[in-house]
This record gives sequence, C-alpha cells and structure tokens, in this order.
Amino acid sequence: MNLVTDFKRIFPASSQPRMFFAPGRINLIGEHTDYNGGHVFPAAISFGTYAVASKRSDQKLRFYSMNFPDAGVIESDIHALDYNEADSWANYPKGMIRAIIEKGHQLETGADILFYGNIPNGAGLSSSASIEMVTGVLVEELFDVTLDRIDMVKLGQHVENNYIGVNSGIMDQFAIGMGKQDHAILLNCQTLEYHYAPLVLENHSILIINTNKQRTLAGSKYNERRSQCETALADLQEELGIISLGELSKEAFEQNKHLIKDPIHAKRAKHAVYENARTLEAKAKLEENDIQAFGKLMNASHLSLKEDYAVTGEELDTIVETAWELDGVVGARMTGAGFGGCAIAIVENARLDTVKEQIQSTYKQKIGYEATFYTANIGDGAKEITEGVMR
Ligand code: GLA
Repeated sequence: MNLVTDFKRIFPASSQPRMFFAPGRINLIGEHTDYNGGHVFPAAISFGTYAVASKRSDQKLRFYSMNFPDAGVIESDIHALDYNEADSWANYPKGMIRAIIEKGHQLETGADILFYGNIPNGAGLSSSASIEMVTGVLVEELFDVTLDRIDMVKLGQHVENNYIGVNSGIMDQFAIGMGKQDHAILLNCQTLEYHYAPLVLENHSILIINTNKQRTLAGSKYNERRSQCETALADLQEELGIISLGELSKEAFEQNKHLIKDPIHAKRAKHAVYENARTLEAKAKLEENDIQAFGKLMNASHLSLKEDYAVTGEELDTIVETAWELDGVVGARMTGAGFGGCAIAIVENARLDTVKEQIQSTYKQKIGYEATFYTANIGDGAKEITEGVMR
C-alpha cells in the first residue's frame, strides 16, 4: 500500500500532498552523557517516521497515524495547541508546531497530516524525536518557514522537556536532524560542536536487537538518573569551578569524588565521566579503523551502565552478555535510555545468522519470549522525499 493513497483515503478533500521522512537513531557509545554535558556518538538509521501532508484553507490541523488507526483523525486549531492527554500520540506534532509558532513563525493555515512510523514502538530508537523532527521539516517546507537546523533540533528537545515532560538531552533530536548517510556523529553536548565520522565497518554489520520489553517506567527512572547526576554535580561544585560532569577527566573525578555525599550519586557521576572518556576514545579507534578496540569500549560501556548507572535490566543484560561470548561479535551494548529497548552488536557478516540464532535461543529460554533483530543501515537526517513510500 502506498502512503499517498492512504492519505487520500483519510483526507479525500485535500490537495496533492508532499512527503517527508525523519529517521530513528542508534547510539554507538556515549550513553546518559548528553544531559551531563559530555559527548555522544549516534547515527541516524533507515527506519523512521514518514509524514504525508498538505495545507488546508482553514485553521485546522488534522492528524492521523497509520500506527494508531483506532485513535482516528485527531483535530486541533493552530491557535489552540495546548497539551491534551486525550490527543495521545498527536501531542508530539502538536507540541512541535506550537514551539515553531512560539518562536515567532506565522502559519497562515492548518494542514492535513498522515504519519506512518516503521521504528518498532518503545524500542528506544527514538520514535518520539523522529515524529518531532519530521513535523519540523514538514512545517518548514509546507509553510516556507526558515529554521536553522540546529534551532529545530533544540525545539524538538524543548518539546520533549517542557511539553511532553521527559527531561531528555539533545542527542536524539540532533542525530535525527543532522544525520548523514554512512556516518556517525560525535557531538559535544555542552558546546554542540560536532564531527561526522565515516562508519565503515568493512565485513561487519551493526545488528540491532530489540528486547521487546515494555518500558512503562522509563520516563520516571530516566528523570531520576538525571537528578542524581545533578545532585552529584552540585556537591562537586562546592569546591570545583565546573559547569558539567562532562568537563571532568577520569583523574579529576577520582581526586574529587569524596565531595559527592551520596555513594549512589557518586556511582552515577562516575559512569558519566568514564563514559565520556570512552566515547572520545571510541571515535579515535573508529578513525584508526580499529574495530576490535571499538568493540571493547562498547562492552565496557554496557558494564558501566549495568553496574554504576543501573539502567540495563535482565533483558538487555541477557542479550549483551550472550553476545559477548559468541564468535564473530566484536562488541555489544545497550543503546538509548535503557530499562528495555534495544541493544546493538557489531558482528562479522559471515557469523550474523548464527549469532542471531544463539542469542534468540538463550533469550527465549531465560526471558520467556523472543527478541527481534534488525540490521542497521545508516542514513540521512530528516528531509523531504519524493519517492513513493510503501508500507
Ligand atoms: C534517551 C534520551 C537521550 C539520552 C539517552 C541516553 O534516548 O532521549 O537524550 O539521554 O536516552 O543516552
């Protein structure tokens, strides 16, 4: 089925629509470092959110998602875009449009918009940032609004923090807004300086492994980790003139960690500091084409997320720890917020099938249900597309 055909079925009175796409993302390394002023190393993937849209002649916004057909068409006025629980998923595009209007951009009319996402739901591959960014691009193109791309990225984070209520960092929107085919992005989340690094893995692939675990607590635990780090930073600031944990070297952390009053907070801060160092090292290893060393850093990252940051859980640990034991696996770790969601592994192409089979069999036996596997293609950031989209 073609998405334009779907659009015409749902919005028969609409004029010829235009199409847009925003990817999801994986993060290679640098987890829970973004809101700590450290570095991240994500990449945009070929799964994402499609939007098919055309302008209306009145002030109405009408949203429909192929993923939530039971919710039907959700309608708002461009001048009444407050968060409304009853609007469920449509709060993401509503929030983004409201943020763009609040930035001072006038939308003369409303629009009909159909969304379709092929990012597995709740998998930690950033479906929410993806829908925010695809909305940003469609508003930009349909209404001739000029938005600097990094400003659009910041608006997406603003929506997430102030409209949806998750205190997330800037990584997801940045990776999705700024992604580049076959490249990962090293981003300094304090300064927003960034570098593209070619992601050439020769005879290896990035395997994404979905735990299929429902992540109901993710939001609240996420916010809790963030505030634990903020308290640790405040303790350190009693003696150190730093503005984020990302400024600390491992050595400086070791010399000053006694300032952190709560031992749990000290562990969280340790992860943030060491993970930031690992991320910089991993980027250098990738540039030297040393995939083996890169893989070892991924493994160390997972261990730190398990032991010091406590965001992995049995499902992710089972997948990652099983992968570590298998021939052909160069490295494996959780990706994204954790608490479920997905793991990634760098795997020799010739061993991909066996690796999947072995992880599946251990996972099913231990957890009781199946994991799902995807192979990641690294694609471009959010943009208008012209080719017909099949679903
Ligand atoms: C989520 C957030 C990001 C980042 C990661 C953890 O994906 O949206 O900002 O904090 O978790 O690295």
